[in-house]
Amino acid sequence: MPFPIHRPRRLRSNSILRRMVRETMLSPSDLIYPLFVTFGKGVRKKISSMPGCFQMSVDNIVKEAQKVYSLGIPAIILFGIPEHKDAKASEAYSPQGDVQKAVKAIKNKVPELMVITDVCLCEYTDHGHCGVIRKGKILNDPTLELLAKEALSHAKAGADMVAPSDMMDGRVAVIRDILDSNGYDDIPVMSYAAKYASAFYGPFREAAESTPSFGDRKSYQMDPANRREALKEVALDIEEGADIVMVKPAMSYMDIISDVKENFDLPVAAYNVSGEYSMIKAAAKMGWIDETKVMMELLTSFKRAGADLILTYHAVEAAKEMNR
Ligand code: PBG
Repeated sequence: MPFPIHRPRRLRSNSILRRMVRETMLSPSDLIYPLFVTFGKGVRKKISSMPGCFQMSVDNIVKEAQKVYSLGIPAIILFGIPEHKDAKASEAYSPQGDVQKAVKAIKNKVPELMVITDVCLCEYTDHGHCGVIRKGKILNDPTLELLAKEALSHAKAGADMVAPSDMMDGRVAVIRDILDSNGYDDIPVMSYAAKYASAFYGPFREAAESTPSFGDRKSYQMDPANRREALKEVALDIEEGADIVMVKPAMSYMDIISDVKENFDLPVAAYNVSGEYSMIKAAAKMGWIDETKVMMELLTSFKRAGADLILTYHAVEAAKEMNR
C-alpha cells in the first residue's frame, strides 16, 4: 500500500523545497527573440495582430538589439520586409538588403549578441510563396540556388548562424556547401526541420507581409496530422549537415519536440509562433488569463518537453520577469 507511506505532497510543502526538486529551469539564455527588419529610417511600426511587436528600420533594430542583449537574451533571429518584391526574390540575397544591413549594424554595435537570420523567400517574392513558381507549381530544385545565395549573403554580412525555414528538400545540404566553399565553414545551420503547414502562422504573415497570393503552403510544409514523418525530416536535415534542428509550431506540437529530443542528440529548438503568442495577448486583454503566469508556464513546458532553445516573441517580457 503506497499510501500513507508515500505522500508526494511532502515535497510540495513550501517554495524552497519545491525549488530544490524542480526538474526544469528556464533562463533567459534559452531564448531567441525574433525581430522584423524593414526599409526606411526611424520606422517603428506596430504589428496590430501581434501586440508588442514592431516592424523596425535598421537604426531602431540596433537599439532593440542592445536592449535584448542587456536582458541576458543571447540571440535574435531576423526577418526582412523588403521595399520591392519580385518573382526571383531579388532582395533576399542583395548585399544592400535590409537584413544584410541590419546584421552589419548590429554586429558593429552589439558584437556579443548572436545574430541568426531566417533564410526564406516568401517575404521577398511577389507571390508570397517560399519557392520559385512555374506554371502554378512551387519548384524545389530551382529554389535551392536562391536559398543558397541568400544564406551566403547573410554570412557575408556577418550573420553568426543561418536558419532555413522554406521546407524545400535538400536545402540544408546546398547551404552547407555554399558556406563551406566560401570560407564560412564555422557558421552553423539551424534548420526548421519539422515545420508544419500551420494556421498558427496567421499573425506572422501580417507582420512579414508574406501571405501567399494563391493557394497555401501544404505542398512543402508538413501535414499537422503527421508524427513519424517529423523524425524522417529531422534525420534528413542532420544528414545534410544541420547543427540545430527546430520544431515549429511549438504549443500544439509538444509530442514532436519530445520525439525529436528522444531520438537525436543535436540541440532542439522550438518555435513558439505568432498565433500562439497572439492568443495569449488576446485572452489577457480580455482579462481571462494571467498573462505573465501563462507565458512562463508555456515557456517552461517547451523546455520540459525537450526544447533546448525557444524562439519566442515573449522573450523580452519573459527575460524581464526572470531578472526581477
Ligand atoms: C517563413 C516563415 C514563417 C514563419 C517563420 N518563417 C511563415 C510561414 O511559413 O508562413 C512563421 C513564424 C510565426 O508564425 O511566428 N517561411
